Amino acid sequence: MTKFHRTYTTKANFMLHGGDYNPDQWLDRTDILADDIKLMKFAHTNTFSVGIFAWAALEPEEGVYNFEWLDKIFDDIYGIGGRVILATPSGARPAWMSQKYPEVLRVNTARVKQLHGARHNHCFTSPIYREKTQKINRLLAERYGQHPALLMWHISNEYGGECHCHLCQEAFRNWLKEKYPDLKSLNHAWWGPFWSHTVTDWSQIESPSPIGENTVNGLNLDWRRFVTDQTIDFFENEIIPIKEVTPEIPVSTNFMADTHELIPFQALDYSKFAKHLDVISWDAYPAWHNNWESTADLAMRVGFIDDLYRSLKQQPFILMESTPSLVNWHQVNKAKRPGMHLLSSMQMVAHGSDSIMYFQWRKSRGSAEKFHGAVVDHDNSLDNRVFQEVAKLGGILEKISDVVGTNRPSDVAILYDWESNWALNDASGFGLKTKRYPQTLQTHYRTFWEMDIPVDVITKDQDFTSYKLLIVPMLYLVSEETISRLKTYVASGGTLVMTYISGIVNEHDLTYLGGWHKDLQEIFGMIPVETDTLYPNDRNAVNFNGKSYELKDYATVIQLNAAKTEAHYVQDFYANTPAVTSNVFQKGKTYYIGARLEDDFHREFYSGLINELAIKPAASVKHGKGVSVQVRQSPECDYIFIMNFTEEDQTVVLESAVKDMVTGEQLSGDVVLEKYQVRIVEKEKC
Ligand code: GAL
Repeated sequence: MTKFHRTYTTKANFMLHGGDYNPDQWLDRTDILADDIKLMKFAHTNTFSVGIFAWAALEPEEGVYNFEWLDKIFDDIYGIGGRVILATPSGARPAWMSQKYPEVLRVNTARVKQLHGARHNHCFTSPIYREKTQKINRLLAERYGQHPALLMWHISNEYGGECHCHLCQEAFRNWLKEKYPDLKSLNHAWWGPFWSHTVTDWSQIESPSPIGENTVNGLNLDWRRFVTDQTIDFFENEIIPIKEVTPEIPVSTNFMADTHELIPFQALDYSKFAKHLDVISWDAYPAWHNNWESTADLAMRVGFIDDLYRSLKQQPFILMESTPSLVNWHQVNKAKRPGMHLLSSMQMVAHGSDSIMYFQWRKSRGSAEKFHGAVVDHDNSLDNRVFQEVAKLGGILEKISDVVGTNRPSDVAILYDWESNWALNDASGFGLKTKRYPQTLQTHYRTFWEMDIPVDVITKDQDFTSYKLLIVPMLYLVSEETISRLKTYVASGGTLVMTYISGIVNEHDLTYLGGWHKDLQEIFGMIPVETDTLYPNDRNAVNFNGKSYELKDYATVIQLNAAKTEAHYVQDFYANTPAVTSNVFQKGKTYYIGARLEDDFHREFYSGLINELAIKPAASVKHGKGVSVQVRQSPECDYIFIMNFTEEDQTVVLESAVKDMVTGEQLSGDVVLEKYQVRIVEKEKC
């Protein structure tokens, strides 16, 4: 990673501000469409994602096209200086297609073919659907490829889900044939003899199903991998004409997160998908002001996902969707309180977004999303509180365009792995409800977030060498290759932290035999010999630096070899035995945290490492709990976002003079931030 470089992900050197625009719902209301264009200017918006669900409007009958309305939208948006992110429409298809070609319909895990309806429900394998999407995509590329408003491609929408039709079964078998040279190696990888599950002909293989095979971990894992690969393959098929006709226009598809707790999207391996995209974009819908966590806790989770998605390409990303106020699909759809829209949007920019985009520009009048927040409400009024907050944010984004393209160099990395998460969740063992891999990573991230230390959340095939500290919590599945890369990282001077339930199975989900992997034993100087899983209300403690820290869910019994004990257990049959260990290995050092410990332990433990490794926050701003300071850096300047994620005033202390990018004020010393206030300041490096 080159520090301090700029990467413009699109041709725009300004912050994109706008969002999903669905004029196809209003084609008989030219007055509304005219209002849209006027209101876009008042809202200080400049970029619109168009055509996402417009297939029925673009091709009302098979082979009969209607692009005129879209021509006008392109011209009108360009007429006010705006840009278009053009979507391919495969996220939802016209009814005529499902009726004429039923193979495009998805089949669920119970092998029930779905009826036409809703969206995001096509078969990813269907040759007909692939042909139809390519055809419409080519027409779109040919018609709009040269339009000066075209900024980026939005391929489909939120790819997800899976299909179990006979075409997909065949594709899965072919995928397996590519992966395994013969059935013998497949049976070995899937541990076939268990319960007589040995496969003697490829045709016996079926995707996992609640009414069929669902206990073979290797099959389940390969199916998840196949679903990712097949989704990417579908995407690659979609972009063939697009790359042919408009090679210079970047391509993205919008990634997701899993709400309620806000963790990365689980169903697809985005580390693989990222390699096929020019730009990462994602849709963020945190439940602000909820009744189960503090605003700061939620902000920390958002920061984690941002840092993961930013790190996928080590470049800025695009926030493709967010709501200016409320959503319609949470259990309770609460409005963002005044100030939260600006704060939550600026957090996105602080962590690497070069845009604030919304779902949706205008509220629809009918159907499922008519109560979802939008910039323009049913009142069509620019006096609307939400509209005003959007316009205010737009004005601020115009003032901070220097931030575009900058990144967040970091000395610390946390490793996130989709495959390991799948395998761990599929394992019948440990605590079925307490595995919580993504949430566990977020608890490790928390200390750094609280201390304003930037973190890259990286994936296993990324380069480790530039980081002073690499944290690998709960890496249940780890291949020999990754183990060897971790070993090289430590040997050449890196500091590696690993936790309980790591290094248990290989890439086939087969356990390592003979105790822990020999290389791990060597670099950690110890062997985890037993994992004790506790009931959710069981508690134990560890003693670290003379203080006691609460432990729950998991405790590893450790056999010490060369390692040193850093903390020991307080109770139970392993009382007084090592709970946390450290080991010097060649030029580097390792730490093993054997138990799930409370946040205060992480604060104490990581503060020690931060000091030892001379890791610094990216800006020196003193503040209390719930304030987050995040920095984007260019060669010339640091752009510092000081954000108050609490419901009270907070005084922060600026240790050097800076300029407020919005008001132009010079600031130094004590500055009071009101509830939810954010200040964006710049500090020149010279
Ligand atoms: C997204 C989707 C949008 C809209 C939005 C509502 O997941 O891409 O089309 O449905 O949710 O929050």
